[in-house]
Amino acid sequence: MILVTGATGKVGGQAVSQLLDAGAAVRALARDPASAALPEGAEVVRGDLADPATLDDALDGVESVFLVWPTLSADHAAPATVKAIAGRARRIVYLSARGVPDPAPGAPETDPDSILGSHALVERLIERSGLEWTFLRPGGFAANTLMWASQIRDTGTVRWIHGAASRALIHERDIAAAGVSVLTGTGTGHAGARYVLSGPEPLTQIEQVTAIGEAIGRPVRWEELSPDVALRGLLDQGWPPAAAQEMIDAHARMVTSPESATSTMEELTGRPATPFRQWAADHADDFR
Ligand SMILES: NC(=O)c1ccc[n+]([C@@H]2O[C@H](COP(=O)([O-])OP(=O)(O)OC[C@H]3O[C@@H](n4cnc5c(N)ncnc54)[C@H](OP(=O)(O)O)[C@@H]3O)[C@@H](O)[C@H]2O)c1
Repeated sequence: MILVTGATGKVGGQAVSQLLDAGAAVRALARDPASAALPEGAEVVRGDLADPATLDDALDGVESVFLVWPTLSADHAAPATVKAIAGRARRIVYLSARGVPDPAPGAPETDPDSILGSHALVERLIERSGLEWTFLRPGGFAANTLMWASQIRDTGTVRWIHGAASRALIHERDIAAAGVSVLTGTGTGHAGARYVLSGPEPLTQIEQVTAIGEAIGRPVRWEELSPDVALRGLLDQGWPPAAAQEMIDAHARMVTSPESATSTMEELTGRPATPFRQWAADHADDFR
């Protein structure tokens, strides 16, 4: 039995479907099973990662866990939640993030209030838990561009920062496929691995917007926004200040140091990572 958390979300949802397709027994964690639209075949169990006392039923008889962490919002419960998982399961595949530093003497401390700090916290807890672990460290999700969807639908223009920032965005299907390959593969060598995952090639944000325009069949314009205005907008949306600043700073860095492509996806699954153009075609209706 494999427990998938984040099962109602983008990556976890894909993991549930792909594990079922691979013939695995799948249990899906949801805070509200009644509203969770999950594929037939998955056993849906209520549980909240921020409240380890609620995870008993979900962890009953589980061999492996595909863990999607509610970054920052559940960090207070991380030690007890990881302990609860380690008390019942044998193996964990953790959806972490690219940029989390490997533990090493003298390694820089990660700001605990940042997204990378949250993932670093969970990684360190898992490393010490006794679980057999594998970390997936994807870079930017292609689905991050959905934050432009309402602007594109309403105005045909994207107003955002650093149009020249370039990253190799990854399809949520590919992240899940990498995890499924680790969970269902008979090969060894995944224990203790930290896999950095990406899409096939870096594209600037302006190129991403152009690709979305091609997918929906009408051009989308780019309008450069100042970082100060963008920061205020993120704070207005309720972003924690450290996470909002981290996002802005990361985009500035990606202008001069593009997020590179890795070959890990192909090594793990035997097929190349999905181009952003295909992701945009898969999600065209979200932008129409
Ligand atoms: N976006 C990026 O570029 C990027 C890059 C690297 C890593 N990541 C990491 O990817 C993860 C997000 O994955 P995603 O985009 O697939 O997620 P998502 O689509 O945003 O969905 C979030 C999922 O988390 C679940 N969830 C939220 N709070 C929960 C809680 N307290 N207990 C149990 N489940 C909870 C939600 O389930 P319910 O609401 O149904 O309970 C939902 O299934 C984060 O850890 C993020 O840091 C993102």
